[in-house]
Amino acid sequence: MTRADVLKKLILSHKKGDDLAFRETVAQIIEEERKKHHPVLANELEQLLNNGSAVNGSNGLHALERPPQDSDKGIPLLEVRNPERYLEELVLELPIRKAIDHLVEEFRSWEILEANGLKPTQRILFCGPSGCGKTATAEAIASELGLPMLYVRFDSVVSSLLGETATNLRKVFDYAQRGQWVMFFDEFDAIGRSRDDPTEHGEIKRVVNSFLQILDNFGGRSLVIAATNFEQAIDPAVWRRFDDIIRFEKPSSEQLKLLIKKRLQPLQFDNTHINELTDGLSGATYADAERTCLDIRKSCAMQGIRKVHNQDVADALSRYAYRRNILDHSMTGAMPTIDKE
Ligand SMILES: Nc1ncnc2c1ncn2[C@@H]1O[C@H](COP(=O)(O)OP(=O)(O)OP(=O)(O)O)[C@@H](O)[C@H]1O
Ligand SMILES: [Mg+2]
Repeated sequence: MTRADVLKKLILSHKKGDDLAFRETVAQIIEEERKKHHPVLANELEQLLNNGSAVNGSNGLHALERPPQDSDKGIPLLEVRNPERYLEELVLELPIRKAIDHLVEEFRSWEILEANGLKPTQRILFCGPSGCGKTATAEAIASELGLPMLYVRFDSVVSSLLGETATNLRKVFDYAQRGQWVMFFDEFDAIGRSRDDPTEHGEIKRVVNSFLQILDNFGGRSLVIAATNFEQAIDPAVWRRFDDIIRFEKPSSEQLKLLIKKRLQPLQFDNTHINELTDGLSGATYADAERTCLDIRKSCAMQGIRKVHNQDVADALSRYAYRRNILDHSMTGAMPTIDKE
């Protein structure tokens, strides 16, 4: 669209009282100014668009726009989430915490970097076992940056209609392009699966290619985080497209202790409780350990007490062991043995 067309659209939308069209046109002008390396003007326009408030990004626009839908199934392709989690609530290994702080710092310095011809880290791959903090950390990063999270529902992106999946991905990125977000692609292995895998349907290969192409051309000022439990399934060509890779592991006993203390926080407990829980939860994920602590808190709440008793710890651990047993056996197909104690 030429400059003259943009101006005409702007005036027309104002005359018609079409707020959405007006905001879209201004967002377009802001984007163009950014491309021309005029960050100060772009930011000023952005603030004016958002009623003069210093909003980090043009997401005011999206309050008016419905998220794109899959035309086949008619379900939304993404969810806009307002993150309510902070890094301080999480237990992160020092190298991970440092990598994340660095990432946040770089992202905040976008303009300085850009003015120096540099780009901040923009695409990160989170990998590691389930329940070890991939989604929670992405949410915490979004809170630190003061950005909403675009949670991309992978099951809705994959369409049964041939060719529709690539269209869906394009819709997601088009939506993202006009705002500033932490974009989170969950279960990324499903689209990042090896392009050389002969068992894969041709469609998924096309999808990976479109994803990579879109990612390469994506000019939006958003942070893209993809998460997978099965990094072995990801093609090396896909790995290379990410600026950074962070691996989340199961907690060590030191980390378990820290998590247990954080999650039992509102209650009174002593060191023997912490040690017992740490032993009993050895090999557990953060999610399992968190669930066990919440279990204790619920027991205490139901008894109307604020102090943890040995019995509460023993009961919660035995419920964890029972659940663990079922989960382990559901993977091997054998029947679980029930501990009667
Ligand atoms: N490092 C951590 N510190 C504190 N809590 C954690 C940590 N990792 C996970 N949790 C807790 O465990 C729960 C599950 O974590 P999360 O959803 O981030 O796991 P995930 O790695 O995304 O798992 P999945 O691969 O199944 O999606 C969260 O509610 C979170 O509070
Ligand atoms: Mg997750």
